Amino acid sequence: MNHFNISEIGRFAKEVVKEAGALLVKLRKEPMVLEEKHDHSDLVTFADKEIESFLVKKILSTYPQHGIVGEEGIFDQGDTYYQTQWVIDPIDGTTNFIHNFPFYGISVGVVHKGVGMIGVVYNPVTDELFYAEKDNGAFVNDVRLHLDQPITLKESLISTAMFWENPNTKNTMHPSVIQIYKETRGLRMFGGAAISLCEVAKGTLNAYIVPALSTWDYAAGIIILKEAGGTITRLNGQPVSLEYGGSLLASHPSIHRDLLGILSKH
Ligand code: IPD
Ligand code: CA
Ligand code: CA
Ligand code: CA
Repeated sequence: MNHFNISEIGRFAKEVVKEAGALLVKLRKEPMVLEEKHDHSDLVTFADKEIESFLVKKILSTYPQHGIVGEEGIFDQGDTYYQTQWVIDPIDGTTNFIHNFPFYGISVGVVHKGVGMIGVVYNPVTDELFYAEKDNGAFVNDVRLHLDQPITLKESLISTAMFWENPNTKNTMHPSVIQIYKETRGLRMFGGAAISLCEVAKGTLNAYIVPALSTWDYAAGIIILKEAGGTITRLNGQPVSLEYGGSLLASHPSIHRDLLGILSKH
C-alpha cells in the first residue's frame, strides 16, 4: 500500500490531464455559463466544475485509495488523511479563460507523504504540457527545462499579482513593488499562477511574486519549477508548504536572494 510508483502514476497523470485538456478546448467553444463565487472578480464557470469532476472520476477509478484536494470541492475528503494526495485546479486562471486571454490551464500535482512528487500543467491555448517528476527533471512537450544560464536582476522580467500596503483598501502600492520595477526590466501581471510558474521554469519570465495563493494554485507549478532548477520560498524566505496556502517568491535561482533582500526591506 505504501509503495509509490512515480513513473506509473506520472504516466497516468499526464494522460488524464491531456484528456481533460481536450475536454477544456471543447467546452471553451460552448456558450459561457458562469456565476460569482464571492464577488464580481471571483468567478466559476460550468467548465471549472466539469473538468474537476472529470479528473476526480478518472483518478478514483484508477487509484481509489488516493485523496484529492480540488478548488471546486468535488471530492469531499472530510478529515481523512491520505498518504497520496492529488492537488488539482481544474482551471487555474478562470478570468483569463472567460476572456480568452491565453494564460490559463489545468494544474494537477501529486503529493506523497507531504512531498511533491509529480506536477502536470497544461495550457490548452499553446498546447504546452509541462511535466515534472521529483528528481527526474522538468519538461515541456518532452523538451527538458533547465535554468542553467545565470541572469541578473537588471536583465529580468518579473510577473506579480500586485501587492498593496493595505490589501483591504488597495490604495497605496507596496514599496517593494516600486523597487522591483525600478531594478528589473519590468513587471507583468498575467494572472494564472500555474502557467506563471511554468513560464518561470521556461525562462520567459524570471520570477513570479504573489502575496497569497491556495495549494491547488501552485502544487504542480512548484514541482515543475523546482525540477527546472528554480528557487521557491514564501515572501519571507520560509519553505513553501503543500498542505496550506500562502505567499510565493518563485524565481530563477540567480535572482532569488536579491528579490528576498528587496522584500525584506519594506
Ligand atoms: C487564481 C489565479 C490568479 C491568482 C488568484 C488565484 P483561479 O486562480 O491563479 O492568478 O492571483 O489568487 O485564485 O481562481 O483562476 O483558479
Ligand atoms: Ca477560482
Ligand atoms: Ca487557481
Ligand atoms: Ca481554478
